[in-house]
Amino acid sequence: MKILVLGGNGFIGSHLVDKLLLEGHSVRVFDKNEEHYRKRLAGVEYHVGEFGNRGVLSDALNSIDVVVHLICTTLPKTSNDDPVFDMQSNVIETLFLLEQCRANNIKKIIFASSGGTIYGIPQILPVGEEDQTNPICSYGISKLTIEKYLHLFKKLHGLDFVIIRPSNPFGPRQNPLGIQGVIPVFLGKILRNEPIQIWGTGDIVRDYIYIDDLIDAFYNTIINKTTSHIYNIGSGKGHSLNDLLSIMKKVTKHDLSVSYTSSRAYDVPEIYLDINRAYRELNWEPHKTLEEGIKQTWDFVSNLPVQEK
Ligand SMILES: NC(=O)c1ccc[n+]([C@@H]2O[C@H](COP(=O)([O-])OP(=O)(O)OC[C@H]3O[C@@H](n4cnc5c(N)ncnc54)[C@H](O)[C@@H]3O)[C@@H](O)[C@H]2O)c1
Repeated sequence: MKILVLGGNGFIGSHLVDKLLLEGHSVRVFDKNEEHYRKRLAGVEYHVGEFGNRGVLSDALNSIDVVVHLICTTLPKTSNDDPVFDMQSNVIETLFLLEQCRANNIKKIIFASSGGTIYGIPQILPVGEEDQTNPICSYGISKLTIEKYLHLFKKLHGLDFVIIRPSNPFGPRQNPLGIQGVIPVFLGKILRNEPIQIWGTGDIVRDYIYIDDLIDAFYNTIINKTTSHIYNIGSGKGHSLNDLLSIMKKVTKHDLSVSYTSSRAYDVPEIYLDINRAYRELNWEPHKTLEEGIKQTWDFVSNLPVQEK
């Protein structure tokens, strides 16, 4: 199959590209940046461009079977700072993408939505795909809006789609100096002997999914016809930040310095995903335990060149 990965040089994209190459697919990447940790890969056709650059994007769609849309210009943390930018750069440009998919007879589009933000504060746990969606940040609203347009384009034009709602993916090639991904960020701080700052009491509960498990789910939806259009992909288990810290202490064998400050309004207090639909319909389940995943991520962070950790 000929697959275009939008945002293929990012954390999730780089792992997906590896998997697609391994399985013998023809891979094209569209991204405004190069991969952070690796040089260009043989066998991948790269198109460098800004998502909003419609000409370059249209060229990248030429003779593609499946599009995987991983570009996102905002983060849950920062999206509320400028909702206009969030809407314009994500929703409007994705609408253009959908129009182009239609024009190019794309067979299917896979969209990375957000299991962590789209539901808002869940009414029940674990939260399932059919539960209420009341996002409390602009990022979640943009993701939900794009989801709605995917449904519309299927209804109006027959464009097939799958929405993946990942929980909190983590693993190698997630930037320990970045602002997303508590696991690599905390591990980086442990390595540098810096204090870890926790917003609130550390009781916030999240669902952490190791990157290889997430990629298996993406791959599955790319190559198979799916029964449903939306899949939660997570571990199905909730872990507090304090749980993470105790696992990190065990894995790294370092003493941790932790400071607790006031909580943030956009943080959902507790969320973990019901993954039964993916289990039943995709024949998928996560394999890596949180501790094993943290160990792999620690190996990655520890082995980075000094300026990168
Ligand atoms: N990592 C997470 O915790 C998480 C959780 C749920 C959903 N997601 C979603 O999964 C997708 C991929 O996430 P990720 O963690 O790999 O992010 P990432 O930031 O590592 O990768 C995104 C890639 O998109 C590219 N990109 C961003 N804006 C662009 C633009 N305007 N034009 C062209 N390229 C652009 C970046 O250069 C980067 O290579 C995103 O849509 C994100 O919202 C991520």
